[in-house]
Parts: sequence; C-alpha cells; structure tokens
Amino acid sequence: MTEEFIPYGRQWIDDKDIEAVTETLKSDYLTTGPKIQEFEDEFADYVDAKYAVAIANGTAALHAATYAAGIKEGDEVITTPLTFAATANSVLYQDAIPVFADVNPKTYNIDPESIKEKITEKTKAIIPVHYTGQPCEMDEIKEIAAENDLIIIEDGAHAVGATYKKQKIGSIGDMTTFSFHPVKNMTTGEGGMITTDSKKLYDKLMKFRTHGITKDESEYINKSDGSWYHEQQELGYNYRITDIQAALGITQLEKLDKFLDRRREIVNRYNQKFKEIDGLIIPEQLKKTNSAWHIYVLQLELDKLTGDRKEIFEALREKNLGVNVHYIPVYFHPYYQSLGYEKGICPNAEKLYKRIITIPLYPKMTDQQVDEVIKRIKSTINKYQK
Ligand SMILES: Cc1ncc(COP(=O)(O)O)c(C=O)c1O
Repeated sequence: MTEEFIPYGRQWIDDKDIEAVTETLKSDYLTTGPKIQEFEDEFADYVDAKYAVAIANGTAALHAATYAAGIKEGDEVITTPLTFAATANSVLYQDAIPVFADVNPKTYNIDPESIKEKITEKTKAIIPVHYTGQPCEMDEIKEIAAENDLIIIEDGAHAVGATYKKQKIGSIGDMTTFSFHPVKNMTTGEGGMITTDSKKLYDKLMKFRTHGITKDESEYINKSDGSWYHEQQELGYNYRITDIQAALGITQLEKLDKFLDRRREIVNRYNQKFKEIDGLIIPEQLKKTNSAWHIYVLQLELDKLTGDRKEIFEALREKNLGVNVHYIPVYFHPYYQSLGYEKGICPNAEKLYKRIITIPLYPKMTDQQVDEVIKRIKSTINKYQK
C-alpha cells in the first residue's frame, strides 16, 4: 500500500489556536477561570440561545441534560438507534429506559411517525439526533412533544452550525447538546456544551457540572457560616471543562463558518461525482435543512453490487481510505442486548446499518485529496458492479 492514508475526520488547528492555548497556560487560571464564561457567551451567541454551559465532553452534556430534564427511574425516553451509544446511555445514567424509534430511510434521521408509535404514559422526553449534521424534522417533533407534554433534548453532536428553517441548531428544543471531540466540526480536544433558553434548566445544568454545589448565597438552603461557605444541594459530578480547552473553543468557533463552507464545498463535489456511480446512494437532504456535514455517509445499493458492505469496506481500507461505519444500531451492542432489547425493532435502521459507509470529510482536505477519495471509491465500486 503506497497511497496516502486519508482519515474520515480530522481537526484543523492553526497558530491562533496554539497561541490562545499557550496564553491560557501562562495565565492564572487553568480551570474555573474567565475563558469558560467567554466561550459560553460566544457559543450561546452563535447558536442564538440564551444560555450555554460548557462541559467536559458531549456525553457529560447529554447526562447533564437528562438530569436537568428530571428524567428518573422508570421514565421512558425516545431516541434513535442510529447514533453513538452515548445518546442512549445518558438515559440509562438516570435509571430510565431508552426506547428506540425507527429512522426515515431517506434522511436517516428519527422518523416522527415512529416516535408517535412509541409513546406511552411513561414517556418523558425525546432525544432526536441530528445525524451526520442534518437537522431532524423539528416542527413535527415539537408538535408531538407539545401534544404529549414531552421535553426535547437535541443531540447536536454532529450539528454545530446547522440550521433548520434558517434557525440554528441549539436554539430549538428545550436543551441541545454538542461535542467538541477532534473529529467534530470544531474541537476543544475533549469538550461539550449544552444550550437552553430556560434559566431554570441553566441553573440545574450549572450545578450538576460542579458536584451539585452552589456558591450563590441567594440559593442557600441553610444559613451561611461565612464567606467560605457553599452548599451541595444535589448529587452532581465534576464535569468541568478547563480554561485551556475553552480558549481553544473560542478560537475554533471563530473559524467554524469557514470550516462549514469548506465541508459543504467538498460535499457538493462528492454529490456530483457519486450520484453518477451505479450502486451508490448519496445522502438526501431536506430543503428546509442546511446540514453541518459532520460526516458523509454513502449508502450501497446492494442489489446492484456483487459484494456486501463488509467486502467493499475492506476493499476501501485496502486503498488506504479511513472509512468508518456510523453506527452499529445501539441496541445491537451486547450491553443493550443484556438489558433485553431484541433485534428487529427498527427495521429501517437495521437495513441501513448493512449498507452504510462513512467516507473522509474534513475541512482541511485538499482538492487533490478529495479527488483521490473519489477516484479510489469509483474504482472500487466499479469492480463490484453487476
Ligand atoms: C451523536 C453523538 N452523541 C454523543 C457523542 C458523545 O460525545 P463525546 O465523545 O464528546 O462524549 C458523540 C460523539 O462521538 C456523538 O457522535
């Protein structure tokens, strides 16, 4: 194998990012300092939300959100199986029950009709995941939530910068969570954010991030003993992000729109080329959505091909393409199977799982690398066409 390895995702760090981190390392605060609030303010501003809470990672963001939503033992929360396990795990953390609704076979996002079918008197919340960066059908989901008195926690790990009917993801549901893992659209190394317009939820999230402790005298349950006094009022965690990470988040956020433009440019080129290849289905986009294009997922039209996904996936890896699969349906995992989930509950997601391959997409890709990816995929698929 002599061809250059091209990964499926990669961060873009420049000198400004490095300077910002270095400056914070030289400052008084490595954590619990001013960079965190600055990052939160700028992020809230970017997504048009009233409040933002920066947190250790996207998983902690989901955990904080299910906690703040008051999800508790016995409650049911509806989500998609086509997501990273962390989405559903955040329901289990609260001793509640994840219920999987099927996806729309065209958009791959949770299907509002399937959500309706899964609602019971125990349902408390919906966690739509904006898979690949394309927003879910939020009008329909909001209507279902309003009719059934459900909380909406959007998992926007893929969708920072995406819009639904020109509204930014992060400003629609009761809470939206984000991840800043290096393959995501912007990074802080590890990191996450929750946005909300509710002061009540914001206060709960802030407390949860720091052990359930408050230092705000106006909130004290008991009388203060003195200026050192603080109170743990709930059982929280240490889910804090550091100032070092927040400093990186600020400079990354400044570049986010540029990153998104480049992602969209690459996607346009991919779409043009891949739609002409027999045996490939390109990702369908709804007119009212503008995806953040975190990942680009090709679907194999298996009845037109001689090989299955595994064979084609391995052939692409042989060509030094860092292809991946997003995702194994969550309830296929042994842990979920041990909880009693059975295969067959979401047929569209299961069918898609057998047919999808994530191909390289990141803003720092050069035009030559994009053409290389197209060339290697084209020649591989050609070999398998019937
Ligand atoms: C859809 C989705 N939700 C949640 C997460 C969890 O984010 P993190 O890795 O920052 O904990 C991820 C990240 O992989 C994700 O893709």
